[in-house]
Amino acid sequence: MKKQYRIAVIPGDGIGKEVVPEGVRVLEQVAQKFQFEIKFDWFDFASCDYYEKHGNMMPEDWKDKIGKHDAIFFGAVGWPAKVPDHISLWQSLILFRRDFDQYANVRPVRLMPGVPSPLANRKPGDIDFWVVRENTEGEYSSIGGRMFKDTDREVVVQETVMSRQGVDRILKYAFELAMKTPKKHLTSATKSNGISITMPYWDERVEAMAKNYPEIKWDKYHIDILTALFVMHPDRFNVVVASNLFGDILSDLGPACTGTIGIAPAGNINPERLYPSVFEPVHGSAPDIAGQNIANPIGQIWSGAMMLEHLGEPDAAAAIVTAIENTLKEPKLRTRDLGGKANTEEAGKAITAAI
Ligand code: NAI
Ligand code: MG
Repeated sequence: MKKQYRIAVIPGDGIGKEVVPEGVRVLEQVAQKFQFEIKFDWFDFASCDYYEKHGNMMPEDWKDKIGKHDAIFFGAVGWPAKVPDHISLWQSLILFRRDFDQYANVRPVRLMPGVPSPLANRKPGDIDFWVVRENTEGEYSSIGGRMFKDTDREVVVQETVMSRQGVDRILKYAFELAMKTPKKHLTSATKSNGISITMPYWDERVEAMAKNYPEIKWDKYHIDILTALFVMHPDRFNVVVASNLFGDILSDLGPACTGTIGIAPAGNINPERLYPSVFEPVHGSAPDIAGQNIANPIGQIWSGAMMLEHLGEPDAAAAIVTAIENTLKEPKLRTRDLGGKANTEEAGKAITAAI
């Protein structure tokens, strides 16, 4: 019997509604080619239109509706003219990340053909690595407070929280990912020279975890020089693991070094598979270009490849990435953000045909 996957599809807002159908088109094509089945269930919540109708971003029973799916294929959420971002994002995406314990935020950083890098003299193959960000604790904690508000003594404190469990599980995820790569190399982001309690602890746990992976060469850099190296020597990296804050910065800087935001994908992953993981493009809903059929669908399509990798279909995932690369080599198949003339649907169909 064919393997079957159930995917919750949430287009969300703006260009999410335009790029998600292209992602699904490509997934249907690879499923056919690689002999598995995907059942897509579409949901209209986690969008500002839903909010306007119902007064909430999501229904009360959202966890029952999508909590049993194999994964969530997400577009983008946000329409600041209708709903403030702190409501639309915090009552949807951020809830998925927290309640589904998606502690690994994973982004590939790869320079693709036909995409001009803002870094001089870099060609496809020169930049090809992963950023793995801890997604649940660290610097983004809710422990702290404000005292003596509106007085000269006003004081604010926000604590960083690093638990052994939380640090070890993200490090394990990153080392396991490095094991699957040919270079078998891992870099840890630290700042133990300045942040003298939590960061030395992070370093200690990296060292302990590394003992379980003798095949992996690993190093560590302070975050300040690490950001400089991303720009000056991106070729040195393979898997980069970082705490929540450092990872947030690196996971934007990495894809920025490879050109357009329109092609970058991301996974918010619960590696134990107790809950569904979310796969989504890095970009948002782009209200400035929404509704015009000009958005680049590649970030969404590449997210679909990451989803298949997670589901255990690595060949199908690789076929999508190869199809993206081959399509990008053709100037006329590129979308406008890459200097081409293809619209969203034409770009999606071209990648589907390449598969
Ligand atoms: P954005 O990523 O939506 O857009 C930034 C710029 O990049 C815009 O000029 C846009 O036209 C362009 N762009 C983005 N994706 C593109 C694509 N696929 N093809 C071609 N051009 C593309 O970020 P912005 O404008 O800061 O946020 C808009 C809304 O999206 C806000 O409500 C924000 O909160 C939300 N957002 C949601 C995210 C998510 O759902 N994960 C992530 C980032 C922002
Ligand atoms: Mg960010």
